[in-house]
Amino acid sequence: MQLSDSEKKMLDGGDGEAKRVAMEGLVQLGEAFGAERMVEIGYAHVHAGMALYLHDVELIEEIAGKGARMAVPTSTNIANADMEGWRLTGAPEKLARLQRRAQTAHESMGSACSFTCTPYWAGHWPTWNTHMTSIESTVTIFCNSVLGAKSNRDGYFAVYAAVAGRYPMFGYHLDANRLGTHRFRAIGEITGTSDFSCLGFHIGSIAGDGVPVIEGLRRRPTLDELDALGAGMATSGGVTLFIIPGVTPPYADVAQSFGGVRPPEAAVVGRAEIDEVYRRFCTATDQGFDIVHVGCPHASLEEMRDYARLLSGRKVAAGVEFWITTSRAVRTAAREQGLLAPLEAAGAKVISDTCPISCHFARTVSPDPALGVAPPPIRAVVIDSAKQAKYVRDMIRCDTLLTGTEEAIATALQGRFVPRQRAS
Ligand code: F3S
Repeated sequence: MQLSDSEKKMLDGGDGEAKRVAMEGLVQLGEAFGAERMVEIGYAHVHAGMALYLHDVELIEEIAGKGARMAVPTSTNIANADMEGWRLTGAPEKLARLQRRAQTAHESMGSACSFTCTPYWAGHWPTWNTHMTSIESTVTIFCNSVLGAKSNRDGYFAVYAAVAGRYPMFGYHLDANRLGTHRFRAIGEITGTSDFSCLGFHIGSIAGDGVPVIEGLRRRPTLDELDALGAGMATSGGVTLFIIPGVTPPYADVAQSFGGVRPPEAAVVGRAEIDEVYRRFCTATDQGFDIVHVGCPHASLEEMRDYARLLSGRKVAAGVEFWITTSRAVRTAAREQGLLAPLEAAGAKVISDTCPISCHFARTVSPDPALGVAPPPIRAVVIDSAKQAKYVRDMIRCDTLLTGTEEAIATALQGRFVPRQRAS
């Protein structure tokens, strides 16, 4: 790889051990993917250090212990426990304490300790053409497709990129890879985050790791709907960028989205495909469920306002566990705006820093035995997100009942499952 003088200095240890380690890792990554040079990044969304695995926290502490400082604005991804309200999820205090060790390490490096999969709702908003790195696929696809930033789906290397302020030029950092490969034409009424998450899930299962171009939507989706759409695509496929002409910068129309080459025939997507995803994730055979969950991806303030409107003055049914997951920043803003009080009065648990599949509920992880963490028995989870539904099935290994957001809240209030009301 061609390195600049300042990058060579980092690699030779002239800027300290932490930058040397970071640059060494990035050069290896770049060489593995055929990158010719590095690019300066403007933002990083990095691994939190997961408390369920002691070693994972120690990894973050190790780089912090080498004197690392984040070279660019850096947010942290979701963690294994709500560090303030761990009791809400039934987590042992030990887990929250260990998770806080990762937070302390991040604080020493200058990360904004956001611990969320929606850092943009917490103020991290990279703009068009900003090269960046992200460990979270939902963040990657939103920043690429809605904000026009440039990011790959990264792993732990995102920490190295944040420390060095560089990333190897490959993948979605190159304009040549940011062109449509699949074409979809949406028909009919598609509305609400749950519908968009199902639409995304369907498109992702066809597009794989391609770049879907979506035309025909009757209106510009809201930011929450775009977030849900991308999360769905990044779950069923490896989609890293989608293009909605007129929404995704800089694509004004279908022709530009395909780089001027003849676009493929469009596959039609609409109510039938969306309903099929709802059906696929409604597997509970009886009406028994243990948790109702909304807030995947972590809820925005607008969504918190909607939840408060739907729950205000009402009560979650006896015996129903109702979770709202969001970032600590949005939870704080919701508290200041008087939105938290009606939610809590209704019996909702407003949880930050984690989510059902990221907390100790997952059966597919092997926590450090010293933590004494055991996943609780769960029969079924009612959910309004195709992404969460897929991972609940795969990781908590229980049944799911996928429905719309309003219907999930109605389920919590009534104590019986309310399926998605079909739009006409
Ligand atoms: Fe976030 Fe958990 Fe959903 S990490 S995107 S709330 S599965």
